[in-house]
Formats: sequence, C-alpha cells, structure tokens
Amino acid sequence: MSQRTPIKGFSKLSKQGKIEWLINEYFEGKPEAHDVLSTYLHEDPKRQRLHDDFIENTITNYYLPFGVAPNFLINDELYALPMAIEESSVVAAASKAANFWLERGGFKTTILSTKKIGHVHFMFTGDTGKLEAFFSNGFKDKLRRDTDTITANMRARGGGIIDMKLVDKTNDLDDYFQIEATFETCDSMGANFINSCLEQFAKTLKAEIEVAESFTAKEKEIQIVMCILSNYTPECIVRAEVSCPIEDLVDGNAITPNEFATKFHRAVRIAEIDPYRATTHNKGIFNGIDAVIIATGNDFRAIEAAGHTYASRKGQYESLTHCSIDDGVFRFWIETPMALGTIGGLTGLHPMVKFAHKMLGQPNAEELMGIVAASGLAQNFAALRALTTTGIQKGHMKMHLFNILNQLEATDQERKTMVSFFADKIPHHAEVINKFCEIRGIENPKEIYNKK
Ligand code: MEV
Repeated sequence: MSQRTPIKGFSKLSKQGKIEWLINEYFEGKPEAHDVLSTYLHEDPKRQRLHDDFIENTITNYYLPFGVAPNFLINDELYALPMAIEESSVVAAASKAANFWLERGGFKTTILSTKKIGHVHFMFTGDTGKLEAFFSNGFKDKLRRDTDTITANMRARGGGIIDMKLVDKTNDLDDYFQIEATFETCDSMGANFINSCLEQFAKTLKAEIEVAESFTAKEKEIQIVMCILSNYTPECIVRAEVSCPIEDLVDGNAITPNEFATKFHRAVRIAEIDPYRATTHNKGIFNGIDAVIIATGNDFRAIEAAGHTYASRKGQYESLTHCSIDDGVFRFWIETPMALGTIGGLTGLHPMVKFAHKMLGQPNAEELMGIVAASGLAQNFAALRALTTTGIQKGHMKMHLFNILNQLEATDQERKTMVSFFADKIPHHAEVINKFCEIRGIENPKEIYNKK
C-alpha cells in the first residue's frame, strides 16, 4: 500500500506550487524531474499561457510529432494532410496510399447528411397518452420560442434546431422518456450550442408541465435526469471512395492485379464478418482519422465513439470500410459518422491547429469531413495492401530500429552504420543491441540494459 496522502486544494496551488508538490511527492524532489518539465515549456510566457489555459492543472506541454502526408488528391483538389500522432509508420502509410491513388483518380467524397442529435432524458410517471397529447399541442413551438436567443446566431448561419420529438423508452426502463432533438450546426461541431438548447428544453418542459391543467399532481413531478448531445451521429455521415480498373492495381509486388484485388477484397470481407479482425481493421482506420482530427483540433474521442457504435449498428461489430469488384472495377470505400467543426473550440486558438487549417485551405466542416474520411480510407488501404502482400513488419521494423537508436542515443554516424547494416535484415531488439555494442565498442550488452 502507498504511504502517500491525498492532497486537498491542488487546483488552487500556483503552477510552480503544483510542480513542487508533484516532484517532491513522486520524484523524491529530484532536479532532473524539474529539467524534464521545463524543457518542454514554451520559452515565450504568452504562448505558454495559451496552452496552460486549454486544460486544468497544466504543468508543462506534451509533444506529439506533427507530420505531413502530401499528394492526397481529394475531389480533384491536391492536399497535404497534417497528421499529429505518436505511432511510427502511420504517416508513411498514408503518404504511400495517397501516391498510389494520385495516379488512379484520387479520393471522391460525399456528405450523406449533417444532422446532430441530443436528448433531454427524463422520468414521467403517469398517463403516456396525456404526455403525447401535450407534445403535439404546441409544446414544440414553445421549445423553439424559449431557445430563440440561443439559436439566433446559428439560424443566421443557416442552422439551428431541425426538429424535436417525444420518445417513449418505457419498454426499456420504467417511466423513461426523452425529448430527442436534431440540429444543424453548420461549420461548428456544435456541442455547446446543442447542450445549451437541451438545458433550456428541460427548463421549459418542467415549467410547462407544472402549469398544464391536464396533468395530476403526481404526473407533474417529472424528473429531468440529464440533458446532453449524443456523440453517436448516424445522420452526420461522410463517404470516401477510391476506384480503378483491376488491371491498374499493379504496384510492384510479386502479385498480379487480379490476385491483389481478390486477396484485398477477402481481407475486407473478413473484417466485415469477424469482430476480432474488425477491431484491428478499424483501429488502423482511426490511425488515419485521429491523426488528422488531432492536428485540426477536433475531438477524436467523439469521432471514434461514433465510429465504433456505427460499426455495431447491425448487431455485430464490423468493418467501417467495404470493397467490391464488379465488371472489372475495384471499389473501396468508407462510410462513417463524422461530426466535425472548423470554427470554434481549438480551431481558432491553437497555433498548430490554425496552421493545419491553413495547410488544408481553410476547409468548411463538410470539406474537412471528406478529408478526414479520405485519410482513414488511405490508412486502411495501406494496411491491407501491406498485410495481404509483404506483411506489415517490414515497414514497422524500420521505424522500430529508429526508436531503439533514439533510446540508445546513437550518434549520426552510428545511425548510418546501423541503418545500412539492417537494410536487408529484420532489426530484432537483441540483435540491434548487439550490433550497437559492437560498433560502440561496448563489450557486454548487459551494460546497456543496466543503464536503462
Ligand atoms: C497498426 O497500428 C494498425 C494495423 O494493425 C491495422 C490493420 O491490421 O489493419 C496495421
């Protein structure tokens, strides 16, 4: 059991106070711990302040690499995609797939719908018929009127509340009902807007039921459980697709275009029917999706959550991408929920996010949905292409070698020698250490392990 005692009022300490407490408590007061934290602080206090204020209890910054995958031809526009991700090979895979499809017509994207959903979850004990009648007799208009000031701006931009309906969930949970509302939030992700409308709906619901003559005293005792948007957005869907004649699938591997198409198609079919494979398959898709979403300042957890629910909508978790081979044409596409914003949130604040949006030509939300979907599709194409031909270890192991060399703090010359030595070999960890020791003249590789 830990001997540590909980701290009260941590959030009220100054930044320096938080750092001191943490280092004393968890790093035995070691100055090296201070060094790590200060190395990653921005030297300009104004810029650092900006980052400090994104979250609570900030003590330093956490760097992620910001990479670029060029040559993405999407709806006939050429993009260089910004990707923020820690995993090696993802940017390389995206770039490879982009180059492959660049010569075959590129990616085509379509926005299937852009509606977002939110709920007031509430409990009502009484006559459901009366509640339904109350809803159909002008209550929806009252909800709209009471949210007029909240929705004014959004309406001016062409969005707002699309509709509301009463949902009876009492078959699943006694007394449970929802006001389910749909929204159009234009170029903003819309979470704040939706949640503000829902909280007002709840107030109006309570107040109107209170004064309605048709309800008994017991029925008036409705309980608002919560008001919140749903991150599941099955009506905010993007599709991205690539296609080409099968004979154009030549890619320098020792496999014919026909064999490649058939094997690739089977790999997708496997992910459509087997949840184990589907999970890894979709994880690879989110390597591409998340990296662009993080770089462009959107909420990747929300997009992932929606994607996984969508992947399970038929009752079994399945692949988000699909493939067909018809009349000699190979088609590969993704269809997935994608509730993104290009205004609001981090998009106008984080300097690298602003840079990413500029790089992409300041896309609107629908354009960004397409770009992100293309990134997911490209990532999946690259993964399946490697898996069904050479295997993925070849590419991964090269990056693995770089990671080990970084850990070993290899010099430029040592890196060169090591990379050329392992050019035609798989760099298994022990072999890399042995070779490194040989080059550096370390007699016993154990010294390396002990140093760690
Ligand atoms: C690794 O991050 C992603 C893959 O496993 C995806 C896949 O198997 O399709 C390569």
